[in-house]
Amino acid sequence: MKADFVLTGAGRLVTCEPGLGEGPLGVIERGALAAWRGEVVWVGREADLAGEVEVAPDAVEVDARGSAVLPGLVDCHTHLVFAGDRAPEFAARLRGEPRATGGVRETVRATRATGDEDLAALALERLDRFLSWGVTTVEAKSGYGLTLEQERRLLSVAAGLRHPVDVVRTFLGAHVVPPEYDDDPEGYVTLVSEGMIPSIGQLAEFCDVWCDEGAFSVDQARRILRAARAEGLGIKVHAEQTARTGAAALAASFGAVSVDHLEHATEEDAEALGISRTVAVLLPGASLGGPYAPARTLIGRGVRVALSTDLNPGTSYSENLPLSAALGCALLRLTAEEAILGITRHAAAAIARERAIGRLARGAACDLVVLGAASEVDLVYHYGANLAAIVVKGGRVVGGAGP
Ligand code: NIG
Ligand code: FE
Repeated sequence: MKADFVLTGAGRLVTCEPGLGEGPLGVIERGALAAWRGEVVWVGREADLAGEVEVAPDAVEVDARGSAVLPGLVDCHTHLVFAGDRAPEFAARLRGEPRATGGVRETVRATRATGDEDLAALALERLDRFLSWGVTTVEAKSGYGLTLEQERRLLSVAAGLRHPVDVVRTFLGAHVVPPEYDDDPEGYVTLVSEGMIPSIGQLAEFCDVWCDEGAFSVDQARRILRAARAEGLGIKVHAEQTARTGAAALAASFGAVSVDHLEHATEEDAEALGISRTVAVLLPGASLGGPYAPARTLIGRGVRVALSTDLNPGTSYSENLPLSAALGCALLRLTAEEAILGITRHAAAAIARERAIGRLARGAACDLVVLGAASEVDLVYHYGANLAAIVVKGGRVVGGAGP
């Protein structure tokens, strides 16, 4: 078979495809990989490469020099498009002042007042930072517009971003009730369900709702999710973040692709999720100081767990996905293997792309990251360090600090 990209020298090729190698991460020692037009066509032992793959003379050749190689990382939950910052709110929280509830609205004000080009520039800077950490795909939610025009605008800005990192769009018109609807929250639910969702078209692939105390009730979320389902949007839910409301069970009953946060989820919620295919997306950076999502209980019930930064200006201002994985180990008690699957394969599943990304196997995208370390465990062990030495997207080298 022909290849226009070839990776050699992988001391440990972490495929995230258990059938291809050792252990839950499917590790191939002294591995190699070949791709054609951005798609993986072969993975195996380097010793077998020459006999099985015909490498084009002008192929891109990457030498991992004995390092560990992982699939390009996937951040499956971000609020990428916003303006302004809330550093004063953060500092006040550290001083022990009660968590202000108006925070999201402040970002809504700043975002509405910022033009498309400036919003896009801010989002591109964030994508640069994601890429620098080895992330090759992010999910991005709207939710700081909260009018039909503004929500469509934020999704259009996300759709227009030209960057090596792929952006998967989610409509989050039901983030919070905007100030204009303080006296009529049900009216806003009607606007989201009957006005915004039918107008989304190709602008988003998923619909998310923040179902929580201080956001939308289970009944309101149900109305919105029904409308989303009728439009063919995939379902996501911000659930059980500040209180236990029954949002996780609601998500499971809708066959949501993911249910996110879960800091207050119970054993019963884990059970409901365990019999669904819904992926639990846990966001340790958004709950520093606790309480933490019951990751072990979820895994014990057979729930697949992904990890994400939750990049947003209120609860988690970070594009450092490997740090989220390290926090997943330290705070949520995940194993290194679980955390690595949480930012690769399970994260891909949380955005309905499990075959296409988050693993290195025939038919998947040639998105990968060569670590500046011999073992994939370093990603969570050497926390805070940037180990993304070479980042490849679609068979092209697009970033990395160098080996
Ligand atoms: O994921 N839960 C809702 N949304 C964000 C917070 C957004 C904000 O504070 O601006 C979150 O934590
Ligand atoms: Fe979020």
